Amino acid sequence: MSNDTATTPPAADKAGAANTRKVFIKTYGCQMNVYDSVRMGDALAGDGYVPTDAMEEADLILLNTCHIREKAAEKVYSALGRLRDMKQARQADGQELMIGVTGCVAQAEGEEILRRAPAVDVVVGPQTYHRLPEALRRARQGTRVVDTDYAVEDKFEHLPVTEKARIRARGVTAFLTVQEGCDKFCTFCVVPYTRGAEVSRPLHQIIDEARRLADAGVREITLLGQNVNAWHGEGPDGREWGLGDLLYRLAEVPGLARLRYTTSHPRDMDDRLIDAHRDLRSLMPYLHLPVQSGSDRILKAMNRRHTASEYLRLIDRIRTARPDIAMSGDFIVGFPGETDVDFEDTLRIVQAVGYAQAFSFKYSTRPGTPGADLPDQVPEDVKSERLERLQALLLKQQAEFAKSCVGKVIDLLLEKPGRNEGQVIGRSPWLQSVNVDAKTSQIGDIIPVRIIGTGPNSLFAEPVRDVIIA
Ligand code: 5AD
Ligand code: SF4
Repeated sequence: MSNDTATTPPAADKAGAANTRKVFIKTYGCQMNVYDSVRMGDALAGDGYVPTDAMEEADLILLNTCHIREKAAEKVYSALGRLRDMKQARQADGQELMIGVTGCVAQAEGEEILRRAPAVDVVVGPQTYHRLPEALRRARQGTRVVDTDYAVEDKFEHLPVTEKARIRARGVTAFLTVQEGCDKFCTFCVVPYTRGAEVSRPLHQIIDEARRLADAGVREITLLGQNVNAWHGEGPDGREWGLGDLLYRLAEVPGLARLRYTTSHPRDMDDRLIDAHRDLRSLMPYLHLPVQSGSDRILKAMNRRHTASEYLRLIDRIRTARPDIAMSGDFIVGFPGETDVDFEDTLRIVQAVGYAQAFSFKYSTRPGTPGADLPDQVPEDVKSERLERLQALLLKQQAEFAKSCVGKVIDLLLEKPGRNEGQVIGRSPWLQSVNVDAKTSQIGDIIPVRIIGTGPNSLFAEPVRDVIIA
């Protein structure tokens, strides 16, 4: 899962009445936060808030934060410093500006945020954002609020059902969180502490939400979870279902043409899930399966509980089931104790897999995680040098993958207007952005196109014939 994207709000959601209060949500971190931001917008809609893309015109600014690496939290504090000035200027004009911090930094830092950032009115964790309206009401009465309990009630049961018009305004692809939290305790990672233990949403909730999305015109759903393939729940047959079973069931939802899921742990890739890749046309041939390191010694120190060769064998099985699958991954360089030899093992596993896409990071010490107390922390300049070498290799593989697509005829889901009139941006089965000449009225259709060229971050295509595939 990409954790580096600092995206803007649950974007241009144009539904809602005029002359109401406006909320700007800045999303840091992974796709789960993007989903949460959207649902926070839903929770606030009942209080008359409509989303805005313009921070300056907002009456409420929420920073939905990420705590995965050190820099991310520091970014939040410096953003809050800038917001304090903005709030003071507004107050001088007799106007209200409320500021809230949500997400994983909120969970981890709690009261500390109120201490360090006097402009903040509410701090609300990832499990309690259905109570945001109440927290804001209390703050307006003069009590700054920290609500970071692991709520006993299920937030999803308390969030309002999203209106069709709001879903439609968000586009033809959507995220759907099916699982939260993590029990794996990789020694570098704060997630088990910030997002808590693994919890799966019940099957009926997921199917209902997927149906609602599809009814509103969503064609592609990405199932989300910190450990999405650890999802489990009781099936209608009384059996314990896993993610594979869930995908087979979702493939039957009318209107849903494409399914994806992220992020997976190699240890939870079971046979049924691999079968789903073989059997389901709607399950897209793209898999984000982080390995973090190619060295068995480091994998052990990271508590990943698999070896490099087990990971490679797993990928062989997945590729046998779905030969055109594109692999994506996450890597950490400079984990404590990582030697040059360990790092060479990481380069070797990258060579062996051949990634279409990847995210790589310098190890960042997270207080409270076991990794923070390990000896042999790697010096910053060594981490930088390793990251540079790894990224050069990954970028080369990415470019090679993009080039290998040229000349192919692929199915393209038309997603949003392109930069130029008469152009539309679509999404390939392998998650690439593809520019093609098409009408905006075709958005939501899946059409055959021929890839004719590559750009820095996208591909170019021409329509093959005027046929709607799905
Ligand atoms: N330092 C660097 N990278 C990290 N990640 C998680 N924790 C850390 C950390 N302490 C990376 C992992 C994970 C991705 C979401 O973020 O690669 O898969
Ligand atoms: Fe963090 Fe490991 Fe859990 Fe992923 S599997 S969220 S890296 S502890």
